[in-house]
Amino acid sequence: MKGEVTQQEIDEMGEAVPLLEGLRTARAIRRLRPDPVPHGLIRKVCEAGTFAPSGGNRQPWIFVAVTEPDRRAWIAERYLKAFREYIAPAFEQAEANPDFPAATLRNMRGALHLAEHLHEAPVHLFVAGWTRRGAEQSQALFPAIQNILLACRAVGLGASLTTVHRTFGAEIDAYLGLSEKTPSSALIPIGWPEGRYGRPPRESVDQKLFFERIPADQKTA
Ligand SMILES: Cc1cc2nc3c(=O)[nH]c(=O)nc-3n(C[C@H](O)[C@H](O)[C@H](O)COP(=O)(O)O)c2cc1C
Repeated sequence: MKGEVTQQEIDEMGEAVPLLEGLRTARAIRRLRPDPVPHGLIRKVCEAGTFAPSGGNRQPWIFVAVTEPDRRAWIAERYLKAFREYIAPAFEQAEANPDFPAATLRNMRGALHLAEHLHEAPVHLFVAGWTRRGAEQSQALFPAIQNILLACRAVGLGASLTTVHRTFGAEIDAYLGLSEKTPSSALIPIGWPEGRYGRPPRESVDQKLFFERIPADQKTA
């Protein structure tokens, strides 16, 4: 999307995407163009997040959208450091293994690309939430996070769910103005996609679904 966008255009974007088709094709989009995303559209996908269920309808979520380049660079520097230290070694092993599944390798390369280009992603959307009785409540945020990913799919924005930043969680939260009572659980890098949405590789539901009980001879672990 180029140039200015009107509120009416934002209101209309994504409204015609069938729900189930949208969610079946909401794969992780990690190659993003650096072009800016209108704030009104960020608001629209976050609003979709607010329609998620939550315990007691407490709606514990807080969204922080970082768009300024120097602030994104600061975040990306820490993300990449965490990624290199904790995840990259497993990737190197996978790359060296000729029997490693190609689809998983592609996925890993996408994650590495994101880590190396995060500063270019025009929006770093953090999803944080209130602790409850002193404990973090990430599970209360994930329905909202998924709604945001689906809304991005609907309006044509690329997005993916990440959690690597949590290695630097306290430092990044302080940078975002979040207190210990509202830690961030996820970082969703958002931007216009370089690639296309499409069906991600998934095992058949028939391998995952059982009626009444798991058969005694069935291995689930
Ligand atoms: C709890 C959780 C944490 C994740 N953390 C990261 C992450 O830190 N970095 C990343 O690139 N992807 C992360 N992902 C995204 C997954 O890697 C992605 O959903 C998976 O590879 C499937 O991608 P696909 O839908 O394109 O097939 C995370 C997903 C979940 C559910």
